Order: sequence, then C-alpha cells, then structure tokens
Amino acid sequence: MPRKVILDCDPGHDDAIALLLAHGNPEIELLAVTTVHGNQTIEKTTRNALAVAEIAGITGVPFARGAHRPLVREVEVAESIHGDSGMDGPVLPEPSLELDERHAVDLIIDTIMSHEPGTVTLIPTGALTNIALAVRKEPRIAERVAEVVLMGGGYHGGNWSAAAEFNIVIDPEAAHIVFNEAWKLTMVGLDLTHQALATPDVVQAIAEVGTKPAQFVLELLEFFSKTYREAQGFEHPPVHDPCAVALVIDPSVMSVVRVPLDVELTGSLTLGMTVADFRGPAPDDCTTHAATDLDREKFWALIVDALRRIG
Ligand code: BDR
Ligand code: CA
Repeated sequence: MPRKVILDCDPGHDDAIALLLAHGNPEIELLAVTTVHGNQTIEKTTRNALAVAEIAGITGVPFARGAHRPLVREVEVAESIHGDSGMDGPVLPEPSLELDERHAVDLIIDTIMSHEPGTVTLIPTGALTNIALAVRKEPRIAERVAEVVLMGGGYHGGNWSAAAEFNIVIDPEAAHIVFNEAWKLTMVGLDLTHQALATPDVVQAIAEVGTKPAQFVLELLEFFSKTYREAQGFEHPPVHDPCAVALVIDPSVMSVVRVPLDVELTGSLTLGMTVADFRGPAPDDCTTHAATDLDREKFWALIVDALRRIG
C-alpha cells in the first residue's frame, strides 16, 4: 500500500524536486500539496508549486495556499539561494491547475480528519507555520497523523545563522509548537541533507533521463549550484527537501535515531536552533527522531527513477 502524504512546501528548487519525487514514486500517494511563505513570498511559492504541477502533469491533487507570514516575526525570504522568483533558472510555465478554495490549514485538517487514523503522513519542507496553525486549530490531528517527517533544523549547526537552519529560524515559534506536539516527528536536518550533494555524476544521471521534467531539474540544479557556491561556499549544492520524502518512501535510505529535540526561542545567538539531547538513552515518552546518515546511491536512484516514471 502506498503511503498517503501531504506535502507542505515553499518551492524552492529543492521543494520542486521533493514534489517531483513524491509524484513520481509509486510508494507515495499524494493527497494534497500546501504552500507556505519561506524561500519567497506566499504568492511566489504558490505560483511555483503550480508550475511544478504543470511540468510534472500532476492532476487530481488539491493544491492550497497557506500562511503568508510567520506566527510572530516578519517575513524573511531566501533570495540569495532561490532568486527573485523563488525558483530561478528554468522558464516557468503558466500553470493551468486551479488552487483549492480552502486555506492550506483547512485542507491539511480536512485531509487528515477524513482519512483513517494513522494513515496520513505530513511532510513539511518549509517553515512550519501551516502545521503549527493546523494543530492549534484542530488538536485531534496530533493523534491522527501517522507521523511528521520534516526537512529542517540540524543538531550540528545551522545555515541561516551559525546555530539555526532556515526553515526553523524564519518561524521558530511555529517550529516550537510542531516539535513539542505528541506526534512521531523526524527531523531530516542539515546533518543529513548536507550528504545529499548534487555532484557531477548525479547531474549526469539526471541528464540521461532525457525528458522535460528532467531538463527542468537540471536547470534548477544549475542555478542552485551557482548560489550555493557563491552564498555558502559549497562545491556542489545540497538538495535538502527530497530527503524527507525519500525517508517516507524507503526507511533504509537513511539512519535515524530517537532523541529528544527542542527549538530554542530565547537565545540571542541561538534563536531557532534545534537542540538535540544525546546524553543518554532517550526517555520512553520521547517521540522525536533525527536523521543521521544517508545512503547516497539509494537516494539519487530514487530521484532518477521518479523522473523516469514521470516521463
Ligand atoms: C531549507 O531551506 C530552504 O531554502 C530549502 O528549500 C530547504 O527547505 C534548507 O535550509
Ligand atoms: Ca523548502
């Protein structure tokens, strides 16, 4: 049985690849796609999500627009990494898919509540604003979801500050809510995603797929490589968001440890840091997990396979 999934995203180069992976892999049934502010404004991330749907031929899946700003703080976008459109590089097609009329928060709640308990997995790959709002509006979703597998955070350090990762630090209050709910949560953070580098052999394998969506991914990666080199000194760009999707598809693609996690809200240097307590065995009531080691070959094989299937 495929895993039923809601993807909450802010496309975003790597969010786009996460969406292609979720759509193209047969182990995933995409129930809904929701958008959030983050890499760019909500108008742009929503438009980009619809453009990816157009390129991949996604139909019959509701897409809904979500929160335009963080719970407490001002909007902060990642233009230095994702450009003015939020998905610079390829020419984006005019989307034909209509947005669902519901707010993303309502689509998330409706989708979880209308499915059997324990069957829907939430994959957030952007700021956690929609997820925090959803669980505050309908607390029953906390016991109803199968699990939350998110891209964000990291136990070794950050990328947007020395201590904090972008998705968490742009809305730390939302992240604090999400990390402290009683659901099973797995943080696929920078410790893991910095192993998912789009090296030349990966680019070559994607080029060999030879389809329009594969060409789109190549153009995304070209831009992403440039900004990651210039802004963060990476030789090859880390492709973060599809790692969370890959874990849901195949748990053997990475190692995960159960460890208490929390989000720093008061530190002047550490705001938005995801603090992991590795001091001893995790207490019995600990429901948080962190991804540690990636099987790179398996991961990239999943991406290439999804692109082949999309055709
Ligand atoms: C995360 O931040 C965004 O820029 C990416 O899409 C990814 O979700 C990496 O820190
Ligand atoms: Ca993202």
